[in-house]
Amino acid sequence: MSKRGRFITLEGGEGVGKSTNVGFVAECLEAEGLEVVRTREPGGTARGEAIRALLLDPAPQEPLHVDAELLLMFAARAQHLAEKILPALARGAWVVCDRFTDATFAYQGGGRGIAKERIAVLEDFVQQGLSPDLTLLLDMPKEAARQRLESRLRDRHEQLDRFEQEQADFFQAVRDGYLARAEEAPERFAVIDAQYTLDKVQSQIRQVLLTKVAAWR
Ligand code: TMP
Repeated sequence: MSKRGRFITLEGGEGVGKSTNVGFVAECLEAEGLEVVRTREPGGTARGEAIRALLLDPAPQEPLHVDAELLLMFAARAQHLAEKILPALARGAWVVCDRFTDATFAYQGGGRGIAKERIAVLEDFVQQGLSPDLTLLLDMPKEAARQRLESRLRDRHEQLDRFEQEQADFFQAVRDGYLARAEEAPERFAVIDAQYTLDKVQSQIRQVLLTKVAAWR
């Protein structure tokens, strides 16, 4: 029977360069000869992507209740685990996921103020003990991240989604939430200083990955 694959997540606030670096992580692992499944949350499956659309739609005339937001995140996650993540890990593939439950603790916990004990109940219910093997947290001060996000949106003429429309104190709480999670599980987290140039950020990421790959093989 093949060895179980590894589960790697990327986390960080808006505008820290996460999407670019998810691709980079996948390429680094593929270069090591590993089978990689790249995915994201909320989303990753057809039903999960439909839930994502509900979650990100600003629809200001119909505000989404914070508990409904939390439950939708975990509904998408349950489908994602069953349909994609667990089967991939079982056949020995490495899963690289753009956000996972640390985002829920940071956004719904830190940002929205839901008690982390309530989130932990859903985490146990949906994940049944599964957690990432490695989490790369891209961290930078919220002002720098905001500038990057705004210039990206300007270039692409995109509209802000429901989360991006939040205010500075929300993003500060999200960042604090992530850093608190990293402090609680230092063996799982690698905190990457994302303020540097892309080259420097990626060399930090590569170093972490190669160390882990060597240890896990
Ligand atoms: P993305 O822009 O990184 O794809 O993520 C979509 C948004 O969803 C982002 O603003 C963060 C938010 N989110 C949560 O609030 N809680 C979660 O559990 C996850 C996975 C994402």
